Amino acid sequence: MKSIYSSDSVPATADIERNKPLLDDQQKNSLIQDIKQLLIEQNALLVAHYYTDPGLQLLADETGGCVADSLEMARFGKQSSAQKIVVAGVRFMGETAKILSPEKTIVMPDLDATCSLDMGCRAEDFIPFCDAHPDRTVVVYANTSAEVKARADWIVTSGIATKVITHLHNEGKKILWAPDRHLGQYIQSVSGADMLLWQGSCIVHDEFKAETLSALKQKHPEAKILVHPESAYTVVKMADVVGSTTQLINAVKSLDADTFIIATDNRIFYKMQQAAPDKLLIEAPTGGAGANCTMCAHCSWMAMNSLQGILKLLQNGGNEITIEEDVRLKAYQSTQRLLDFAAANP
Ligand code: 13P
Ligand code: SF4
Repeated sequence: MKSIYSSDSVPATADIERNKPLLDDQQKNSLIQDIKQLLIEQNALLVAHYYTDPGLQLLADETGGCVADSLEMARFGKQSSAQKIVVAGVRFMGETAKILSPEKTIVMPDLDATCSLDMGCRAEDFIPFCDAHPDRTVVVYANTSAEVKARADWIVTSGIATKVITHLHNEGKKILWAPDRHLGQYIQSVSGADMLLWQGSCIVHDEFKAETLSALKQKHPEAKILVHPESAYTVVKMADVVGSTTQLINAVKSLDADTFIIATDNRIFYKMQQAAPDKLLIEAPTGGAGANCTMCAHCSWMAMNSLQGILKLLQNGGNEITIEEDVRLKAYQSTQRLLDFAAANP
């Protein structure tokens, strides 16, 4: 393995469940065996995001669940025959699963695992904003609450947002976009659509800065730069590939290059290394001018998912996602529109 990042060098966040001590290998293995047994007994599947700890990603793979981006997590939960879906990610991902699969029990290790985009776009502020712009089609990023989704005409994820907005733009529609201003600016630049942008942002991707990235690129002029579009537009403009988590993993695999600088949550390196074991992967810097590095390229809310949390959940129950049915039905329409569009536009 030729990576500057190594999962060995990453703090074992899967072993940190708020104030609990780290586990040794024996304790960890016994925990994993107990979880595997309970998943089978409860007809449950683990669906994990790429930003969760590698230990959880491995467990999801080994138990027939999936490790995916937010679009695929939603699709997988809906298509699965499991009665219970354990979502290792952040709350909007659990809510999206419930919106699409109301008959299933959707649980999460920690219901407080949220997202700065979701937090910065409250339904009580967003609904009047939409009402003030009735001439615009409301397109909302998946990183939002069920109440905000219920007010939207369309839900999109980063993997498909540009395609959807281009489609709406070609139909002559004007767009109201929320909540990520950086993603909105990027889509606007690609599609040329008329977009009114909500001013939210991701506090993890906000830490990547063009100046420090440029200095790193000078040290590795041969490297391709891969950027998640929640990053600032100045960073996005430097990218060879801009894309969702899945699209960035695919780029590492398919591009004819040996070295990559990657601007997104560093837990994605686990799957990137699996996809391209001989390539050199370098983390984009989060320090430098204008950065405060409170997150250091790892989402603190994603880090709230732990092996201990999953075991406790399966042993004790609780932490179920619930959504009021009238809200769910409205959110279902805009979310299902996304899945239908994705199926028709592969
Ligand atoms: P993806 O849809 O690309 O997985 O992104 C989700 C997310 O929260 C990125 O910060
Ligand atoms: Fe939200 Fe950013 Fe964390 Fe993704 S990385 S869940 S956008 S705070």
